[in-house]
Amino acid sequence: MTEINSVTTLTREGDVAIITLNSPPVNALSFNVRDGLYEGFKQAIADDSKAIVLICDGRTFIAGADITEFGGASKGASLFDVQNMMESSPKPVVAAIHGTALGGGLEVALCAHYRVAVPSARLGLPEVALGLLPGAGGTQRLPRVVGVENALEMVTSGRHVPAPEAAKLGLVDEMVEEGKLKEGAIAFANKCVAENKPLTKISENNAKLEAAKGHPEIFAEFRKKNARKFRGFDAPEANIKCIEAVVNSATFDEGLKAERTLFMGLMAGSQSAAQRYYFFAERQAQKIPDVPDDTPVREIRKVGVLGAGTMGGGISMNFVNIGIPVTIVELKQEALDRGLKTIRANYERSRGAKPEETEKRMSLLSGGTDLSALADCDLIIEAVFERMDIKKDVFANLDKIAKPGAILASNTSYLNVDEIASVTSRPQDVIGLHFFSPANVMKLLEVIRGEKTAKDVIATSMKLAKKIGKVAVLSGVCPGFIGNRMLSQRQREAQKLVLEGAMPWDVDRVLYDFGFPMGPFAMSDLAGLDIGWVKENSKGETIRDVLCEMDRRGQKTGAGYYDYDENRVAKPSPVTEKIINDFIVKSGRNPRKISDEEILERCVFPMINEGVKILEEGMAIRASDVDTVWINGYGWPVYRGGPMFYGDLVGGPKKVLEKMKEFQGKMGDDFKPAALLEKLAADGGKFGDLKG
Ligand code: 3HC
Ligand code: NAI
Repeated sequence: MTEINSVTTLTREGDVAIITLNSPPVNALSFNVRDGLYEGFKQAIADDSKAIVLICDGRTFIAGADITEFGGASKGASLFDVQNMMESSPKPVVAAIHGTALGGGLEVALCAHYRVAVPSARLGLPEVALGLLPGAGGTQRLPRVVGVENALEMVTSGRHVPAPEAAKLGLVDEMVEEGKLKEGAIAFANKCVAENKPLTKISENNAKLEAAKGHPEIFAEFRKKNARKFRGFDAPEANIKCIEAVVNSATFDEGLKAERTLFMGLMAGSQSAAQRYYFFAERQAQKIPDVPDDTPVREIRKVGVLGAGTMGGGISMNFVNIGIPVTIVELKQEALDRGLKTIRANYERSRGAKPEETEKRMSLLSGGTDLSALADCDLIIEAVFERMDIKKDVFANLDKIAKPGAILASNTSYLNVDEIASVTSRPQDVIGLHFFSPANVMKLLEVIRGEKTAKDVIATSMKLAKKIGKVAVLSGVCPGFIGNRMLSQRQREAQKLVLEGAMPWDVDRVLYDFGFPMGPFAMSDLAGLDIGWVKENSKGETIRDVLCEMDRRGQKTGAGYYDYDENRVAKPSPVTEKIINDFIVKSGRNPRKISDEEILERCVFPMINEGVKILEEGMAIRASDVDTVWINGYGWPVYRGGPMFYGDLVGGPKKVLEKMKEFQGKMGDDFKPAALLEKLAADGGKFGDLKG
């Protein structure tokens, strides 16, 4: 065995030279890895072997470029040096793939003459998720293997394609048995030698491009079809342009040049910086300083849910989906039946739903109206009405029936989890699990740590969240926790803006153009204006009261802030406009013209200020956790990195403080800057560095 460097070895099996990479955790292409590959291939090409296999140790093949090195000075062999060496090798090079071959990893594999993989492997070019494009020839080689249309789909979705599908697409030349990758790859390499298989250079193979030549409509249609999905993002368009370049360039090198230019453009932009930041933010959120990764977890084999309403149903689906049985307890049989019916309908409606799958999932659901049905549950999640007296009652009763060690969770949106825990004899087992609506779809789970919550309860919740496909973020106990607490700042300003002269559709347009899926008023119309509205108590004191009193209760009644046509397309409403103008006149104010800039700053800067307060009070662990909440729970555009990242992007604490003070001077203490914001601005600090 020759040790090439600290992460690469060169060994020999008969005629086959084997280059093995071992750079945990994911064999990313750090400079050390590139150097090892370059030197390894150089030596393997020079020795008397007849073929070369590239294989990786650990959990995966190469998962991409090393994202932590982006933006730093480049050193060592470049990825292009490695690729050229592989592609021009005079003996067959075989890439042996397990785990994932992603981004730069797949781009390396595409420079081997052949690829073999185990069935569980996945291959893809996910750079788009980092606001990038495959910048090492990936966009130029992939279409030459899978065709232009498949390539367009792969690079703009970033999808990790399962190996069997990749084999059908031509990306994998031979599947080898799970667990026998090395033997399979060596056998394949020997076969290449024995059969004198050609040294296929993908870069020279243009056959798959022919079908798309002279057909620009392929790209036009693809853009049109995906316009909604790509809205606001720079990277998908740059990826599409690269694939266009494959078709329109006279040579491979010309296309490569176009790819390089577009790659550098994205790399220098703020969107990719935001998306790369978010990649690490999401992973960082799983780390809780005083709850180490090896904290023992409680086993969750059965889940109980209280309440089969909007949230209880969706929450239950998450567990059933991963095979954990769920028992739902409701007040009345009718409510339970309604909830179960909604769950079934959700399954039946989901894309590609097979009837037997739906039945299998439904069979894991049971229900009743007697709390004791939850006695054998390892985790019980309460999703009943948002009232402290009811929650306390429920938890006191749960305390009586739940088995020892069961985790008792509340899905409360605003209420004090410590107060809820205080009615039990086991506050250490009580935690907040704040799902977002629709709970079977939304990625965010705020995990609310009570004063007495045990560490293993936190560790169990965080790990379980990952299992059900959620991104969990830990929050302390405060009204509205991280997300809703910041949201209330935005909601307040949105309402105020409308009473000063902006129309709901002005506010919505600004926030939509910023990148949110919809503005607050369109959102209210969708959810229903009458949530929390009580007819008997309504005295026309707010715009909402008046709208509800007129039965304009949102989309469901065909009108709310907006008017809706029969296809639920929203139009600004003259009725709403009149109501608003009457309100303004009644308040003795003059409506004024409000700029888009003011709308945005008034909606967003108080949120950033609140985020600082949340960190100041230690309610979030770090600034990036706040951003992770907003990206996954509230549709904050990932290409703007979250409120705290955005605060740094638009001028940092100094700028935000300046604006908050300006607004405070004009409009009062809704804009009072957090003490920590003042300090941060004075010290020249960054929001991104804040720790709770
Ligand atoms: N660079 C640096 N670190 C990386 C990395 C990368 N490309 N990919 C993963 N890591 C790190 C993670 O930050 C994490 O670190 P931590 O343990 O300190 O938090 C660790 O590796 C394990 O990652 P995950 O927790 O995500 O592990 P999973 O097993 O859940 O997932 C994975 C593994 C599917 C490989 C996932 O990590 C992933 O999707 N990685 C990114 C893949 C990617 O985007 N590749 C393209 C990179 S850009 C590129 O190649 C540009 C080129 O075209 C020039
Ligand atoms: P919902 O009104 O749709 O459902 C509540 C259900 O609980 C009803 O079906 C009711 O019959 C049942 N219920 C009431 N008391 C009960 C009891 N003692 N035992 C068993 N069942 C009982 O309410 P929704 O929207 O599902 O909210 C539930 C909780 O989730 C609230 O705390 C809410 O704040 C929170 N939440 C709601 C979100 C939303 O968007 N709707 C988002 C995140 C959290």
